[in-house]
Amino acid sequence: MGLVPLAALAMFLSACASASFPSADDVETYRNTVESVFMADRGGTMSGGERSYASCVMCHTWQTDVRFSLERPETNSGWTSEQSRRNFDVVSQLINTDDPENSRLLLKPLDSVAGGLMHTGGTYWTSRDDPEYGAVLEWIQSLPNQYIPEPEPEIDFEFFRACVQPVFQTGREGQIRCSRCHSSGLNGFAPEPQRDNEWSDEEAERAYRLISRVIAPGNAEQSRFLLKPLHPDGGGAYTHNGPRRWQSREDPEWQMLAEWVRGERRGGSCS
Ligand code: HEC
Ligand code: HEC
Repeated sequence: MGLVPLAALAMFLSACASASFPSADDVETYRNTVESVFMADRGGTMSGGERSYASCVMCHTWQTDVRFSLERPETNSGWTSEQSRRNFDVVSQLINTDDPENSRLLLKPLDSVAGGLMHTGGTYWTSRDDPEYGAVLEWIQSLPNQYIPEPEPEIDFEFFRACVQPVFQTGREGQIRCSRCHSSGLNGFAPEPQRDNEWSDEEAERAYRLISRVIAPGNAEQSRFLLKPLHPDGGGAYTHNGPRRWQSREDPEWQMLAEWVRGERRGGSCS
Protein backbone atom coordinates (compact mmCIF):
# COMPACT_ATOMS: atom_id res chain seq x y z
CA MET A 1 0.00 0.00 0.00
CA GLY A 2 1.10 3.60 -0.08
CA LEU A 3 2.19 5.60 -3.11
CA VAL A 4 1.70 3.14 -5.89
CA PRO A 5 -2.06 2.66 -5.66
CA LEU A 6 -2.46 6.39 -5.18
CA ALA A 7 -0.58 7.11 -8.40
CA ALA A 8 -2.66 4.49 -10.16
CA LEU A 9 -5.79 6.09 -8.82
CA ALA A 10 -4.65 9.51 -10.02
CA MET A 11 -4.00 8.12 -13.49
CA PHE A 12 -7.35 6.43 -13.50
CA LEU A 13 -9.08 9.64 -12.48
CA SER A 14 -7.37 11.76 -15.11
CA ALA A 15 -8.23 9.18 -17.79
CA CYS A 16 -11.85 9.45 -16.65
CA ALA A 17 -11.70 13.22 -16.82
CA SER A 18 -10.71 13.33 -20.47
CA ALA A 19 -13.02 10.48 -21.42
CA SER A 20 -15.99 12.17 -19.79
CA PHE A 21 -15.42 15.65 -21.17
CA PRO A 22 -17.42 17.84 -20.81
CA SER A 23 -17.83 17.77 -17.05
CA ALA A 24 -20.52 19.82 -15.30
CA ASP A 25 -17.96 22.63 -14.94
CA ASP A 26 -17.07 22.48 -18.61
CA VAL A 27 -20.73 22.77 -19.53
CA GLU A 28 -21.03 25.75 -17.19
CA THR A 29 -18.09 27.47 -18.91
CA TYR A 30 -19.66 26.72 -22.29
CA ARG A 31 -22.97 28.18 -21.10
CA ASN A 32 -21.31 31.39 -19.95
CA THR A 33 -19.05 32.00 -22.92
CA VAL A 34 -20.82 30.50 -25.92
CA GLU A 35 -24.52 30.21 -25.15
CA SER A 36 -24.53 33.78 -23.90
CA VAL A 37 -23.59 34.74 -27.47
CA PHE A 38 -26.43 32.61 -28.85
CA MET A 39 -28.94 34.19 -26.48
CA ALA A 40 -27.75 37.80 -26.73
CA ASP A 41 -30.63 40.09 -27.60
CA ARG A 42 -29.61 42.14 -30.61
CA GLY A 43 -32.67 44.30 -30.66
CA GLY A 44 -34.65 42.91 -33.56
CA THR A 45 -35.67 40.15 -35.88
CA MET A 46 -34.24 41.35 -39.17
CA SER A 47 -32.04 39.02 -41.16
CA GLY A 48 -29.87 39.23 -44.25
CA GLY A 49 -28.51 42.41 -45.71
CA GLU A 50 -25.60 44.28 -44.24
CA ARG A 51 -26.27 43.51 -40.61
CA SER A 52 -28.64 41.25 -38.82
CA TYR A 53 -30.24 42.04 -35.52
CA ALA A 54 -31.86 38.75 -34.59
CA SER A 55 -30.40 36.59 -31.84
CA CYS A 56 -28.87 33.30 -32.99
CA VAL A 57 -31.40 31.35 -30.95
CA MET A 58 -34.31 32.82 -32.92
CA CYS A 59 -33.26 30.80 -35.96
CA HIS A 60 -31.13 28.03 -34.54
CA THR A 61 -33.61 26.19 -32.33
CA TRP A 62 -34.68 22.62 -33.06
CA GLN A 63 -37.30 23.88 -35.49
CA THR A 64 -34.85 24.86 -38.17
CA ASP A 65 -33.65 22.14 -40.47
CA VAL A 66 -29.97 22.92 -40.30
CA ARG A 67 -27.30 20.84 -38.60
CA PHE A 68 -26.84 23.67 -36.12
CA SER A 69 -30.13 23.05 -34.29
CA LEU A 70 -30.21 23.96 -30.62
CA GLU A 71 -32.86 22.89 -28.13
CA ARG A 72 -35.80 25.18 -27.63
CA PRO A 73 -35.03 26.91 -24.29
CA GLU A 74 -37.24 25.46 -21.56
CA THR A 75 -37.14 28.51 -19.29
CA ASN A 76 -37.47 32.24 -19.84
CA SER A 77 -33.88 32.77 -18.87
CA GLY A 78 -32.69 30.14 -21.32
CA TRP A 79 -31.63 26.51 -21.48
CA THR A 80 -31.41 24.20 -18.47
CA SER A 81 -27.96 22.71 -17.81
CA GLU A 82 -29.17 19.42 -19.22
CA GLN A 83 -30.28 21.11 -22.42
CA SER A 84 -26.95 22.91 -22.63
CA ARG A 85 -25.21 19.55 -22.41
CA ARG A 86 -27.16 18.40 -25.49
CA ASN A 87 -26.51 21.71 -27.25
CA PHE A 88 -22.84 21.19 -26.58
CA ASP A 89 -22.91 17.99 -28.67
CA VAL A 90 -24.43 19.92 -31.57
CA VAL A 91 -22.01 22.82 -31.27
CA SER A 92 -19.01 20.49 -31.00
CA GLN A 93 -19.69 19.42 -34.59
CA LEU A 94 -19.13 23.00 -35.74
CA ILE A 95 -15.72 23.50 -34.24
CA ASN A 96 -12.22 22.38 -35.09
CA THR A 97 -9.90 22.11 -32.10
CA ASP A 98 -7.02 21.28 -34.41
CA ASP A 99 -7.41 24.54 -36.31
CA PRO A 100 -9.67 26.75 -34.15
CA GLU A 101 -9.87 29.71 -36.54
CA ASN A 102 -11.27 27.38 -39.18
CA SER A 103 -14.30 26.47 -37.07
CA ARG A 104 -17.62 26.93 -38.86
CA LEU A 105 -18.98 28.42 -35.65
CA LEU A 106 -16.52 31.28 -36.06
CA LEU A 107 -16.64 31.59 -39.84
CA LYS A 108 -20.42 31.78 -40.38
CA PRO A 109 -21.15 34.99 -38.42
CA LEU A 110 -17.88 36.59 -39.66
CA ASP A 111 -17.86 39.05 -42.55
CA SER A 112 -16.61 37.51 -45.80
CA VAL A 113 -14.23 40.46 -46.12
CA ALA A 114 -12.53 39.16 -42.96
CA GLY A 115 -12.46 35.61 -44.32
CA GLY A 116 -15.91 34.48 -43.15
CA LEU A 117 -18.45 32.32 -44.98
CA MET A 118 -21.76 33.54 -46.36
CA HIS A 119 -24.56 33.09 -43.82
CA THR A 120 -28.33 33.36 -44.17
CA GLY A 121 -28.47 34.76 -40.65
CA GLY A 122 -26.26 37.67 -41.63
CA THR A 123 -22.94 39.14 -40.58
CA TYR A 124 -22.40 39.64 -36.86
CA TRP A 125 -18.66 40.22 -36.64
CA THR A 126 -17.07 42.64 -39.08
CA SER A 127 -13.55 41.56 -38.11
CA ARG A 128 -11.63 39.07 -36.01
CA ASP A 129 -11.13 41.86 -33.46
CA ASP A 130 -14.75 41.60 -32.37
CA PRO A 131 -14.82 40.72 -28.63
CA GLU A 132 -17.52 38.08 -29.17
CA TYR A 133 -15.42 36.42 -31.84
CA GLY A 134 -12.44 36.53 -29.50
CA ALA A 135 -14.34 34.96 -26.61
CA VAL A 136 -15.61 32.06 -28.73
CA LEU A 137 -12.16 31.52 -30.25
CA GLU A 138 -10.56 31.42 -26.81
CA TRP A 139 -13.15 28.89 -25.67
CA ILE A 140 -12.40 26.60 -28.64
CA GLN A 141 -8.67 26.90 -27.91
CA SER A 142 -9.26 25.83 -24.33
CA LEU A 143 -10.93 22.51 -25.24
CA PRO A 144 -9.19 19.13 -25.41
CA ASN A 145 -8.10 18.52 -28.99
CA GLN A 146 -10.78 15.97 -29.77
CA TYR A 147 -13.25 17.90 -31.92
CA ILE A 148 -11.89 17.61 -35.41
CA PRO A 149 -14.32 17.52 -38.33
CA GLU A 150 -14.06 14.87 -41.03
CA PRO A 151 -12.33 16.17 -44.14
CA GLU A 152 -14.97 17.42 -46.56
CA PRO A 153 -15.29 16.00 -50.06
CA GLU A 154 -14.92 18.32 -53.02
CA ILE A 155 -18.16 19.32 -54.72
CA ASP A 156 -17.42 19.17 -58.44
CA PHE A 157 -18.05 22.33 -60.44
CA GLU A 158 -18.17 20.63 -63.83
CA PHE A 159 -20.95 18.30 -62.69
CA PHE A 160 -22.82 21.31 -61.32
CA ARG A 161 -22.76 22.96 -64.75
CA ALA A 162 -23.63 19.88 -66.73
CA CYS A 163 -26.17 18.13 -64.52
CA VAL A 164 -27.34 20.31 -61.62
CA GLN A 165 -28.08 23.61 -63.34
CA PRO A 166 -30.45 21.94 -65.85
CA VAL A 167 -32.52 20.66 -62.90
CA PHE A 168 -33.20 24.26 -61.87
CA GLN A 169 -34.29 25.16 -65.38
CA THR A 170 -36.85 22.42 -65.92
CA GLY A 171 -40.17 22.28 -64.13
CA ARG A 172 -41.56 18.96 -63.14
CA GLU A 173 -45.15 17.69 -63.12
CA GLY A 174 -46.53 21.14 -63.66
CA GLN A 175 -44.40 22.75 -60.94
CA ILE A 176 -42.67 26.04 -61.48
CA ARG A 177 -38.95 25.98 -61.99
CA CYS A 178 -36.49 26.80 -59.22
CA SER A 179 -35.17 29.59 -61.44
CA ARG A 180 -38.46 31.43 -61.19
CA CYS A 181 -37.83 32.18 -57.52
CA HIS A 182 -34.11 31.62 -57.03
CA SER A 183 -32.49 33.82 -59.64
CA SER A 184 -31.15 36.68 -57.54
CA GLY A 185 -29.96 37.67 -54.09
CA LEU A 186 -28.47 35.40 -51.45
CA ASN A 187 -30.69 32.54 -52.68
CA GLY A 188 -29.92 33.23 -56.33
CA PHE A 189 -28.29 29.88 -56.98
CA ALA A 190 -30.55 29.23 -60.00
CA PRO A 191 -30.12 32.25 -62.26
CA GLU A 192 -31.71 32.39 -65.72
CA PRO A 193 -28.96 32.35 -68.35
CA GLN A 194 -28.61 35.85 -69.78
CA ARG A 195 -27.66 34.71 -73.28
CA ASP A 196 -28.49 31.78 -75.58
CA ASN A 197 -29.87 29.49 -72.87
CA GLU A 198 -26.28 28.86 -71.76
CA TRP A 199 -24.73 30.13 -68.58
CA SER A 200 -21.51 32.08 -68.93
CA ASP A 201 -18.57 30.93 -66.79
CA GLU A 202 -19.12 33.92 -64.56
CA GLU A 203 -22.82 33.19 -64.05
CA ALA A 204 -22.14 29.54 -63.35
CA GLU A 205 -19.37 30.29 -60.87
CA ARG A 206 -21.53 32.74 -58.99
CA ALA A 207 -24.39 30.22 -58.85
CA TYR A 208 -21.97 27.55 -57.65
CA ARG A 209 -20.79 29.78 -54.79
CA LEU A 210 -24.37 30.47 -53.78
CA ILE A 211 -25.47 26.84 -53.84
CA SER A 212 -22.40 25.90 -51.77
CA ARG A 213 -23.94 27.83 -48.91
CA VAL A 214 -26.89 25.45 -48.71
CA ILE A 215 -24.79 22.29 -49.04
CA ALA A 216 -23.19 20.40 -46.16
CA PRO A 217 -20.40 18.69 -48.11
CA GLY A 218 -20.53 14.93 -47.68
CA ASN A 219 -23.90 15.08 -45.95
CA ALA A 220 -26.85 14.97 -48.35
CA GLU A 221 -29.42 14.41 -45.59
CA GLN A 222 -28.51 17.71 -43.93
CA SER A 223 -28.02 19.83 -47.01
CA ARG A 224 -30.75 22.45 -47.25
CA PHE A 225 -30.54 22.30 -51.01
CA LEU A 226 -31.81 18.70 -50.86
CA LEU A 227 -34.15 19.20 -47.91
CA LYS A 228 -36.21 22.20 -48.95
CA PRO A 229 -37.74 20.76 -52.14
CA LEU A 230 -38.17 17.29 -50.58
CA HIS A 231 -41.62 16.33 -49.27
CA PRO A 232 -41.81 16.35 -45.42
CA ASP A 233 -43.18 12.78 -45.48
CA GLY A 234 -40.00 11.76 -47.28
CA GLY A 235 -37.71 13.43 -44.74
CA GLY A 236 -37.79 16.93 -46.21
CA ALA A 237 -38.04 20.32 -44.48
CA TYR A 238 -41.31 21.28 -42.80
CA THR A 239 -41.50 24.50 -44.72
CA HIS A 240 -40.54 25.74 -48.15
CA ASN A 241 -42.21 28.61 -49.92
CA GLY A 242 -41.67 26.72 -53.15
CA PRO A 243 -42.74 23.33 -54.55
CA ARG A 244 -41.74 19.84 -53.39
CA ARG A 245 -39.92 18.45 -56.35
CA TRP A 246 -39.11 15.09 -54.79
CA GLN A 247 -41.57 12.91 -52.87
CA SER A 248 -38.83 10.81 -51.29
CA ARG A 249 -35.12 10.19 -51.29
CA GLU A 250 -35.77 7.27 -53.62
CA ASP A 251 -36.27 9.71 -56.47
CA PRO A 252 -33.43 9.09 -58.98
CA GLU A 253 -32.90 12.82 -59.42
CA TRP A 254 -32.54 13.29 -55.64
CA GLN A 255 -30.09 10.42 -55.56
CA MET A 256 -28.02 11.86 -58.39
CA LEU A 257 -27.78 15.18 -56.56
CA ALA A 258 -27.04 13.43 -53.26
CA GLU A 259 -24.14 11.57 -54.84
CA TRP A 260 -22.79 14.89 -56.08
CA VAL A 261 -23.08 16.41 -52.59
CA ARG A 262 -21.21 13.39 -51.19
CA GLY A 263 -18.38 14.06 -53.63
CA GLU A 264 -19.10 10.88 -55.61
CA ARG A 265 -20.03 12.55 -58.90
CA ARG A 266 -17.62 14.39 -61.18
CA GLY A 267 -17.44 15.56 -64.75
CA GLY A 268 -20.10 16.07 -67.39
CA SER A 269 -21.94 12.77 -67.41
CA CYS A 270 -25.36 12.82 -65.71
CA SER A 271 -26.48 9.25 -66.24
C1 HEC B 1 -32.29 34.86 -39.41
C2 HEC B 1 -31.93 33.50 -39.06
C3 HEC B 1 -30.54 33.23 -38.51
C4 HEC B 1 -29.91 33.88 -37.47
C5 HEC B 1 -30.43 35.02 -36.63
C6 HEC B 1 -28.63 33.23 -37.32
N1 HEC B 1 -28.49 32.22 -38.25
FE1 HEC B 1 -26.92 30.95 -38.46
N2 HEC B 1 -27.81 30.07 -40.06
C7 HEC B 1 -29.08 30.35 -40.52
C8 HEC B 1 -29.38 29.48 -41.66
C9 HEC B 1 -30.67 29.46 -42.46
C10 HEC B 1 -28.25 28.65 -41.85
C11 HEC B 1 -28.03 27.56 -42.93
C12 HEC B 1 -27.71 28.19 -44.26
C13 HEC B 1 -26.42 28.97 -44.20
O1 HEC B 1 -25.39 28.38 -43.82
O2 HEC B 1 -26.42 30.17 -44.50
C14 HEC B 1 -27.29 29.05 -40.84
C15 HEC B 1 -26.06 28.45 -40.66
C16 HEC B 1 -25.21 28.67 -39.59
C17 HEC B 1 -24.01 27.90 -39.32
C18 HEC B 1 -23.49 26.71 -40.12
C19 HEC B 1 -24.13 25.45 -39.60
C20 HEC B 1 -23.61 24.21 -40.27
O3 HEC B 1 -24.30 23.20 -40.21
O4 HEC B 1 -22.53 24.22 -40.82
C21 HEC B 1 -23.46 28.42 -38.18
C22 HEC B 1 -22.21 27.96 -37.49
C23 HEC B 1 -24.31 29.53 -37.76
N3 HEC B 1 -25.37 29.64 -38.63
C24 HEC B 1 -24.07 30.31 -36.64
C25 HEC B 1 -24.88 31.37 -36.23
C26 HEC B 1 -24.59 32.21 -35.08
C27 HEC B 1 -23.41 32.01 -34.15
C28 HEC B 1 -25.60 33.14 -35.02
C29 HEC B 1 -25.73 34.29 -34.04
C30 HEC B 1 -24.55 35.11 -33.85
C31 HEC B 1 -26.52 32.86 -36.11
N4 HEC B 1 -26.05 31.79 -36.83
C32 HEC B 1 -27.68 33.58 -36.37
C33 HEC B 1 -29.93 31.30 -40.01
C34 HEC B 1 -29.65 32.17 -38.99
C1 HEC C 1 -42.50 29.80 -55.78
C2 HEC C 1 -41.14 30.20 -55.49
C3 HEC C 1 -40.11 29.12 -55.24
C4 HEC C 1 -39.75 28.07 -56.04
C5 HEC C 1 -40.31 27.69 -57.41
C6 HEC C 1 -38.67 27.39 -55.35
N1 HEC C 1 -38.39 28.01 -54.17
FE1 HEC C 1 -36.92 27.52 -52.84
N2 HEC C 1 -37.48 29.03 -51.61
C7 HEC C 1 -38.47 29.95 -51.90
C8 HEC C 1 -38.52 30.93 -50.83
C9 HEC C 1 -39.46 32.12 -50.76
C10 HEC C 1 -37.53 30.56 -49.87
C11 HEC C 1 -37.19 31.24 -48.53
C12 HEC C 1 -38.20 30.85 -47.47
C13 HEC C 1 -38.17 29.37 -47.20
O1 HEC C 1 -37.14 28.89 -46.70
O2 HEC C 1 -39.14 28.70 -47.52
C14 HEC C 1 -36.91 29.36 -50.41
C15 HEC C 1 -35.88 28.69 -49.79
C16 HEC C 1 -35.11 27.71 -50.38
C17 HEC C 1 -33.90 27.15 -49.82
C18 HEC C 1 -33.25 27.54 -48.49
C19 HEC C 1 -32.32 28.73 -48.69
C20 HEC C 1 -31.55 29.11 -47.43
O3 HEC C 1 -31.13 30.27 -47.33
O4 HEC C 1 -31.35 28.29 -46.55
C21 HEC C 1 -33.45 26.22 -50.70
C22 HEC C 1 -32.19 25.38 -50.58
C23 HEC C 1 -34.39 26.18 -51.80
N3 HEC C 1 -35.39 27.09 -51.58
C24 HEC C 1 -34.27 25.33 -52.88
C25 HEC C 1 -35.15 25.30 -53.97
C26 HEC C 1 -35.00 24.44 -55.12
C27 HEC C 1 -33.85 23.46 -55.34
C28 HEC C 1 -36.08 24.69 -55.93
C29 HEC C 1 -36.46 23.98 -57.22
C30 HEC C 1 -36.65 22.55 -57.10
C31 HEC C 1 -36.87 25.73 -55.29
N4 HEC C 1 -36.29 26.07 -54.11
C32 HEC C 1 -38.02 26.26 -55.85
C33 HEC C 1 -39.28 29.98 -53.02
C34 HEC C 1 -39.24 29.08 -54.06
